[in-house]
Amino acid sequence: MEIDWVELTAAAKAAMAKAYAPYSKFPVGAAAFTTDGRTISGANVENASYGLGLCAECSLVSELFRTGCGKLAAFACADGNGEPLLPRGRCREILYEHSAEGMLLQTTAGIKTIQEVLPEAFGPEDLSR
Ligand code: THU
Repeated sequence: MEIDWVELTAAAKAAMAKAYAPYSKFPVGAAAFTTDGRTISGANVENASYGLGLCAECSLVSELFRTGCGKLAAFACADGNGEPLLPRGRCREILYEHSAEGMLLQTTAGIKTIQEVLPEAFGPEDLSR
């Protein structure tokens, strides 16, 4: 599957423009291509109770299920300047659960796989050991 990173980045930036981040003033947009050919996106939604804010990745995973299912094939995240953003650890775990084998991410250091950014991940298979 050839990934159009320009298109995926544009989707992440468009999502970022819809973020609700009045507290951190750090809007984030996320976008992904799914294995069944859809483009999904999400943005962070903060809360006056700071710890209750939703990250862009949570919003994206919600849309993954709301619009169908499938797995994540490629992912990009954009900060308020439209620059690539590498998801933090918690968000990498959230993405891993729904990633296709070898899922690609745009990072500040180029394209990497989910296994590269989250080695030795904990996943559903670990629960049945
Ligand atoms: N944020 C995300 O939505 N995703 C990330 O990968 C990094 C951080 C959000 C959470 C919070 O609303 C704001 O960025 C500042 O941390």
